[in-house]
Amino acid sequence: MINRLKLAHLPTPVEGLPRLSALLGGPRLFIKRDDLTGLGPGGNKTRKLEYLVADALARGCDTLVSTGAVQSNHCRQVAAAAAKMGLGCVLVLAGEPPAVRQGNLLLDSLSGARIIFTDPSQRDSCLQQAVDELSAQGQKPYLIPYGGSNALGAQGYAQAMWELQDQRCQPNWIVFATSSGGTQAGLVLGAIETGFPGKVLGMSVDKPAQEFCPAVANLVNEAAALKGLDLSITAKDILVNSNYCAAGYGMLQPAEVEAIQLFARQEGILLDPVYTGRAAAGLVDLIRRGFFGPDETVLFWHTGGTPALFAEPYNTLLNQ
Ligand SMILES: Cc1ncc(COP(=O)(O)O)c(C=O)c1O
Repeated sequence: MINRLKLAHLPTPVEGLPRLSALLGGPRLFIKRDDLTGLGPGGNKTRKLEYLVADALARGCDTLVSTGAVQSNHCRQVAAAAAKMGLGCVLVLAGEPPAVRQGNLLLDSLSGARIIFTDPSQRDSCLQQAVDELSAQGQKPYLIPYGGSNALGAQGYAQAMWELQDQRCQPNWIVFATSSGGTQAGLVLGAIETGFPGKVLGMSVDKPAQEFCPAVANLVNEAAALKGLDLSITAKDILVNSNYCAAGYGMLQPAEVEAIQLFARQEGILLDPVYTGRAAAGLVDLIRRGFFGPDETVLFWHTGGTPALFAEPYNTLLNQ
């Protein structure tokens, strides 16, 4: 039995996107609202943290330590989980401290996290130093890896596939933003466990598929082993589209602005500028290219990130 805490509001809703589907003349579109997981403003990391924070507590740790970009959704959810469980939180954020703290960064501080900014090239050493300093002070730090993407964190998304099955939702395709790989590894493991007949397609936010698929396949096997399952899938079992990430991490493109506007204006759903905006831009393009059959059903798994919208300048998102 793997320890798990209750941190998320589950099951998250599955909703139709009929106006967007009609406008694009595309397949039937649904959305799984993991932007509503409920820890702070929610997001995909909360499912992973149910397992990671349970492990931290089982080991008697008193401080969560993690890392990410300055507008990290992961770190914002770590900070909120720490607050909820009465733990300390130290976040090592890679980048310059901005003049104004907004979006996720504002919420990190609001949740009481201590923030250390570091040059991206020093991220790992800075993280280790933070852990060592806490230990030297007599605290018990628990290090959560980048994106919460290890075999334990991935359990959150394996479990999510059972949740989807209980919701009687069987799309032909599940499409979502993928970056550190834990969400995808969990979904793939859950798909195998539940006998899901559809395809699980990650839209890469920042890495080429050739580099990313082997790492995700390894993570699936490790996550399976943690549950006592003997799996040995390989990179060819992992579906990743990396055609939409050439601009680089966090570099907002016109196609992403269009996708964010489409979801907001057709369906009243807010995406984010880094992850779901990029994945949705890819989804829209694939629909326009006729990649999905007209009778197919596509589930866009919304992985959250909405607070990062509030760190974007007004004119970028509105083409002004
Ligand atoms: C909003 C959002 N979507 C998707 C992802 C990617 O998830 P993963 O890192 O598990 O691949 C992240 C990761 O930070 C995220 O914040």
